[in-house]
Amino acid sequence: MISRFSYGKPFPTGAVVRTIEPSRKPMPFFRIRREGTSVSFSLDLTPEEIIFGLGETVRGINKRGHLYESWNTDIFNHSEDRKSLYSSHNFLIFFRRDRLIGLYLDDSGRVIFDLGYTKRSEAVITSENGNLDVYLLEGGQLKDIVHEFREMIGRSYLPPRWAFGYLQSRWGYAGEEEVASVVEKHRERHIPLDGVCLDIDYMVDYQNFTWKKEAFPDWKKFNQRMKDEHIHLVPIIDAGIRVREGYSPYESGLEKDAFCRKESGDYFTASVWPGNCCFPDFLNKDARDWFGDLYRPLLEEGIEGFWNDMNEPALFFTKESMEEALSLVERQKEREDDYEGMWALGSAFGSMANNPKDYQSFYHRTEQGTIRHDYVHNLYGAYMTKATADGIRRFMPDRRYLLFSRSSFIGAHRDGGIWQGDNFSWWSHIRLALQMLPGLNMCGFLFCGCDLGGFGQNTTEDLLARFLQLGVFTPLMRNHSALHTREQEIYRFETWEAMRGTVQVRYALLPYLYSEFMKAALRDEMYFRPLAFDYPEDDRAVHTEDQLMLGENCMIAPVYEANAEGRYVYLPEDMLMIRFRSAEDYDLERMEKGDHYIRLRLHEFPLFVRKNSFILLGKGAESTDELDDSSLTALGWLEKEAEYAFYRDDGVCTCPSLNQGLTSIRLKPGDNTLIYPAATSAKDDSDYS
Ligand code: NOJ
Repeated sequence: MISRFSYGKPFPTGAVVRTIEPSRKPMPFFRIRREGTSVSFSLDLTPEEIIFGLGETVRGINKRGHLYESWNTDIFNHSEDRKSLYSSHNFLIFFRRDRLIGLYLDDSGRVIFDLGYTKRSEAVITSENGNLDVYLLEGGQLKDIVHEFREMIGRSYLPPRWAFGYLQSRWGYAGEEEVASVVEKHRERHIPLDGVCLDIDYMVDYQNFTWKKEAFPDWKKFNQRMKDEHIHLVPIIDAGIRVREGYSPYESGLEKDAFCRKESGDYFTASVWPGNCCFPDFLNKDARDWFGDLYRPLLEEGIEGFWNDMNEPALFFTKESMEEALSLVERQKEREDDYEGMWALGSAFGSMANNPKDYQSFYHRTEQGTIRHDYVHNLYGAYMTKATADGIRRFMPDRRYLLFSRSSFIGAHRDGGIWQGDNFSWWSHIRLALQMLPGLNMCGFLFCGCDLGGFGQNTTEDLLARFLQLGVFTPLMRNHSALHTREQEIYRFETWEAMRGTVQVRYALLPYLYSEFMKAALRDEMYFRPLAFDYPEDDRAVHTEDQLMLGENCMIAPVYEANAEGRYVYLPEDMLMIRFRSAEDYDLERMEKGDHYIRLRLHEFPLFVRKNSFILLGKGAESTDELDDSSLTALGWLEKEAEYAFYRDDGVCTCPSLNQGLTSIRLKPGDNTLIYPAATSAKDDSDYS
């Protein structure tokens, strides 16, 4: 059951697609307090209560005990004390034996979540502007709450099947020679690969929608050459448009009056990678249409995928904040021994980027009238995603596209995926990535993944290997790293063959993982779940923080510690463990419910399959184009007949149908390995019957 409660004048964020009339009754469970413009909602928590949700945030799967803030921020260091990352996903579930409440705060501004931080026994959620809709979900189990919420916010974005292939990326790939060589090195060594992401270096002076003619002399030809090798190029697009006479997106943006302005009527500008930029007013439909059409020349060259960046929006500095800091420098010159002045200088320069004052200084022209940016700050990235997605859909209405963004808000899950931002080459960031995934799924973001190997700082061989082992299961599987860090393509390392084995497992599992992803998306379900969702009565499972359920029948438990030769895993029921080394090299072990120490040497990783169910393993390929899923091996521990609903389609159709795509596969007890399709029984008349 969902009830809606309205406060103040909520801005229509577009997150919710179902019409739910506001309730006239007071909101149950929560104490409501107004102070100035803000409104807070407090809930008493029992000692054992767990809080799930909040999408892209740091810390555990259980969010209790910390302070979070929905305020989309370009954050380079995902340390434990971070309150905000790049996105705002204001959905939570309060879970205890005798009460289950889902809560969504549809609020485009800053929201503070004190989840037992000030007082362990109380959650206090505060909307700074006090203009919001609150949706309360009750009844059923954890899965039902999420399902109902997901129905309310609309179906998740469906990427094309090739987007599930392995993608190689690096900030710094300078031109077609370098990209071709990266591809060649994968192909020579038979490391599967489906795409290369191009970072800002392909552009002229980091200006969106340009490409360096000297580095990419014939873009169309090069793209075709890559396509012939089954490689998709995926260029980056940033939010800011450089202020530069004669630069066509700037000129056309001026003509269309598409940029945000300050109160004075002047354009708001700030410095980002290309230098001084204007910022498209993504909350304005005409501006969105203009921006979406800027992708057209790239689409015409055959590009079918993009990643949108810096769209919180990230602001390095404005002219005003720089002038203010420089005036402090001048003052300091006259007071050489003033150490307090020195601190002030440090803070003036240190707080220049993404400064709250700057976010208060420009406006959007929306259908609801002109609105100051900070009231709708958290929507900016989501509406950039919408502009891009609509632009692509206008150009190719019949094909799915790849799109993933850094910043997002619930609602953007219908138009694209996200990546988890600038992580580090740290062991703790494997665990962090894992812990974010179920929260993201609750909020509709099924197509997501982290920078494998770590973005910032230098990776190590073993760290990359373990990151990849998580990446095998994340829908977006991309190796990405920052400029000036150690190069981390798989082939750079001594044990590249073993890492190739890991990527091969991804391709062998891809038909199955794609099936699980599509079913989750089309049924408004989660692809990754905390164990509590499947075993709410099992206390051990409910508190498990480093394992996830995947799809209908699997569980993952990656290794995330340096030099570990294994790990402890809790099995909430009897399961078959597949210990993978490569697609051909794995062993199977039947394991009983309970705690186990599992030996996992550096290039080994497990997948657990529930007893009396099975997964499907193909032969793999070097690209998704070449995958052959006509003969799959089923792996399972069967003591009775089991059935699997296998989904497949052409991988690009924009209106996939569950009914048409599903084939039922039934297997009887016997060997662990059964050859598909011999043992299937199909429900439909597809070529699998
Ligand atoms: C920040 C993004 O998060 C990162 O992935 C990218 O490489 C850099 N911007 C440069 O474009």
